[in-house]
Amino acid sequence: MKIPISKRLLCCAAMVPEGARVADIGCDHGYLGIWLLTEGKASYVAASDLREKPLEKARANSRLYGVADRMDCFVADGLAAVDPASVDTIVCAGMGGDNIAGILQAAPWTRDPAYTLILQPQTSGNDLRRWLGENGYAIEAEDLVQDGGFLYFTLTARYGGGRPLTPGEQYLSPRLQQSGSALLPAYFDRVLRGLQRAVDGIALSQKKEERARLPYYEQALREVREMRRQYDNGT
Ligand SMILES: C[S@@+](CC[C@H](N)C(=O)[O-])C[C@H]1O[C@@H](n2cnc3c(N)ncnc32)[C@H](O)[C@@H]1O
Repeated sequence: MKIPISKRLLCCAAMVPEGARVADIGCDHGYLGIWLLTEGKASYVAASDLREKPLEKARANSRLYGVADRMDCFVADGLAAVDPASVDTIVCAGMGGDNIAGILQAAPWTRDPAYTLILQPQTSGNDLRRWLGENGYAIEAEDLVQDGGFLYFTLTARYGGGRPLTPGEQYLSPRLQQSGSALLPAYFDRVLRGLQRAVDGIALSQKKEERARLPYYEQALREVREMRRQYDNGT
């Protein structure tokens, strides 16, 4: 029976190291963990979700696909129920970037290069990249995937060697620029459109706290425009 896993989640799966012991946080239906186990890519999965209903689905699916003996399911906030010794890879997909940063912040044991983090934020990707850099996590790779008309990025990160990213790098990291993805032009277009909208909107705002953010967005826009120029020139 074919597992109905999305193209977007397959992009996360592609980044999971062979034989990994995976924590899938915000697992919902559990398809990512089940796919990794049935494909032999993971040897163990700790699947966790904040809500009971999705967890019931994940448990039932793990039995349906015959992997329940290698998949533990927890109702928990973030990594709270995961034994750090039981996993070496952490996946957080389909949540906001700020939520993912909060989950990592609440689990200081992830500040260890032994853990591979695979993160796929639905929103606020710039905030997540900023948080990772400021907290010493290095982004090792990024890739893009188009699914259902939307463009998603997925990154792998690891504690150690990270540095604060510039505003432009928070929107389009060096690793993503180096990815060689055929979807980069579309991603550039989306980021540039979003930043231009933010700059135009804030420039019209009367609110002092919003206007204080203007230099950040202007700087990000300048940087991403320059990245695009270099990308188009092949430099
Ligand atoms: C949109 S679904 C994504 C499911 C799957 N990871 C994917 O990418 O298709 C987000 C899931 O994350 C769960 N979630 C949100 N915040 C969470 C948290 N702090 N800890 C654990 N699960 C969380 C929600 O209950 C929901 O099931």
